[in-house]
Amino acid sequence: MNSLLTITTRPDTVFVEGRGSWLTDEAGKRHLDLVQGWAVNSLGHSPDVIAQALARQAGRLVNASPAFHNRPMIALCDRLAALSGLERVFLCSSGAEANEGAVKLARRWGSRHRGGAHEVIGFDDGFHGRTLAMMSASGKRGWDTLYPPMPAGFAKARFNDIGSVERAIGAHTVAVMIELVQGEAGVRPADPGFVRELRALTRERGVLLIVDEVQTGIGRCGTAFVHQHYGIEPDLMTLAKGIGGGVPLAALLAKDAFDCFEPGDQGGTYCGNPLMAAVGLAVVNEVCRDEFLAGVQQRARRLERGLQALVREHGLVGERGLGLLRALVLRGDHADAVVAAAREGAPVGLLLNAPRPSVIRLMPALNITDDELDEALALLGQALRAVLA
Ligand SMILES: Cc1ncc(COP(=O)(O)O)c(C=O)c1O
Repeated sequence: MNSLLTITTRPDTVFVEGRGSWLTDEAGKRHLDLVQGWAVNSLGHSPDVIAQALARQAGRLVNASPAFHNRPMIALCDRLAALSGLERVFLCSSGAEANEGAVKLARRWGSRHRGGAHEVIGFDDGFHGRTLAMMSASGKRGWDTLYPPMPAGFAKARFNDIGSVERAIGAHTVAVMIELVQGEAGVRPADPGFVRELRALTRERGVLLIVDEVQTGIGRCGTAFVHQHYGIEPDLMTLAKGIGGGVPLAALLAKDAFDCFEPGDQGGTYCGNPLMAAVGLAVVNEVCRDEFLAGVQQRARRLERGLQALVREHGLVGERGLGLLRALVLRGDHADAVVAAAREGAPVGLLLNAPRPSVIRLMPALNITDDELDEALALLGQALRAVLA
């Protein structure tokens, strides 16, 4: 392990196998996984849908170069366009890359149609990725001083505060970029009224609305895209995480009117490669079916009820979220301790995530079974009892 560049602290556990909602470590211990690669494995670990799509496509065509067409790329872009009503799609490999693409496209549109407007307004505590520009776009505390100098052209408004957006919009503003459920900030859903006002305001002021659905998209919140839950349509949208079901795949979608890159303005070696696109198509076809999404909503209600029971039992602040992106809010900064206690539980561990010192985030596989959800809630209850006693 000494050869790993330090980027984070990890427990010593080494995972060797995953199936559905379960991960097995080298010592043979099983863990019920409610992290799922950070809301990535929409169909759980190593689902047959992905294994088959990968094997089929790997034996046929892995990469024809982004300079040529391939069938999986065309089919996935067509499917995403039909699902979202955003007619133009660019495939890439990570959420940060898709978001960078969205900012570039907005700036290109601003240079053509808005007299050089280029500034993008993000939100306090927002998270859009770890490239330098996306660190500037994010509102995570401390990120503006981590790798100076940071790219310029990003302003901030306050989440759920339409007045702050109104004040931040100026002559140079080209876009507002938002997560409708702030994931890294601790699963904070936007107020429906704020979202409607934001859509109206951006239209009225000729400013693009970029919705970052990297964490919320492809069924995570019970609808194909969370903006559908809010009843709005963005101008640009980004997807990653769940779209690949665990493989590196992301997408930038735009309304036809904003299809304004010139050839050569945007690209990348792996953009639209058939191997990842074939997986994405298989995942999207599986998840974005009415019955599957209805199942996500039913499982989300079960999880919500179970978390509410834990809130009552342990006198916690509350639970929140949309669909299967949920959080439990504790009264003190015990989230890391609860996550560790759950992971170390015997004979079975439970994997959770703590995006904030007092917040535990749950993002299970979208096809987790009712029994697995009940077992996860029981294990979470045990960890809470152990830490809060
Ligand atoms: C809302 C949101 N946007 C962007 C990103 C960055 O995605 P990636 O890590 O694939 O670059 C994340 C990752 O957690 C995210 O949650």
